[in-house]
Amino acid sequence: MKIRASAPSNIALVKYWGKKEEQKPLNPSLSFSLEKAKTDVQIEIKKAENFSFEFFFEGKPKPSFHPKLEKFFSKIMGELPFLKEHHLMIETSNTFPHSTGIASSASSFAAMSLALVGLEYLLSSKGAPFNQEIAYTKASSLARLGSGSACRSLFGEFNSWGSISQTFATKVDCHPRFKTLQDYILIVDDGEKSVSSSEGHELMNQHFYRERRIEEANLHFDLLRAALAKGDVESFLEITISEAMSLHALMMTSKPSYLLMKPLSVEILSKLFKFRQSRDIPFTFTLDAGPNIHLIFFREDQPKMEAFLRNEIYPILHEKRVIKDQIGQGAKILWD
Ligand code: PMV
Repeated sequence: MKIRASAPSNIALVKYWGKKEEQKPLNPSLSFSLEKAKTDVQIEIKKAENFSFEFFFEGKPKPSFHPKLEKFFSKIMGELPFLKEHHLMIETSNTFPHSTGIASSASSFAAMSLALVGLEYLLSSKGAPFNQEIAYTKASSLARLGSGSACRSLFGEFNSWGSISQTFATKVDCHPRFKTLQDYILIVDDGEKSVSSSEGHELMNQHFYRERRIEEANLHFDLLRAALAKGDVESFLEITISEAMSLHALMMTSKPSYLLMKPLSVEILSKLFKFRQSRDIPFTFTLDAGPNIHLIFFREDQPKMEAFLRNEIYPILHEKRVIKDQIGQGAKILWD
């Protein structure tokens, strides 16, 4: 029996930073799913005495991924008992290049979790209809155990995690105004992360600003959710920038301290701050725990944004280093 699924990466506007217990967030986070940056997965299962798996990434075996996958499977085994008596052949590929700063762990764990939930349905449904809401919610809670932010890669458009539930993400209502968001990812550096997100989350436990950060994230979360519902563009733009700057400030003030931006990130950010002052077009930007910049704007402003990029950014960052993505519709099972 086999199944195919695909899931997108997502970009957080209110950042998940710091965790407790079994992969539960210290604060609520809110993100949107991307459209083009996706992981496709195919899982084929065969009856066996015990659980075992093989893993191929872009057609090649990838033993370096095994420890992370073993940990993931041991965490989800109780939720998917069929695994205990099957051998899995997992093949995955990404639609975006590896190490571009796009969170491939989010799309991979979301795609794998949805495929596994689909397999569970095929094995045990006995003709009952597939309940998408229940299946996606279960996939979200499984994906979280692989990588926290992966739980926000199931549903389309905006997803939140840590307000309604600590263990799975839910869809966030948004005004039609936000349905055409573009996300141009400016790849300043495609090398390995200087600090893993696990280390970053860990640093929050002893952080001097821990409690204030939790308060700030809760405030930003409430304000952003209200702005998305009302169509309040100005608040959306402001909160998104403020969150990105807070995340980097937290890394700079942690012990030990990390500087995750590169000189080119700072150069680009200065140009973006200046362009915002001209109030020519409404746009915002964010960064994850790395040097790359997500430039976020509305589809109707694409020609103006492209002109700005041509004049100000492409002379310092080649256009080939820009991945042009947009808000997307979430994960899918591809029933054969
Ligand atoms: O899911 P993780 O453990 O890789 O953490 C992701 C953390 C950020 O990308 C910085 C923020 C977020 O909410 O996605």
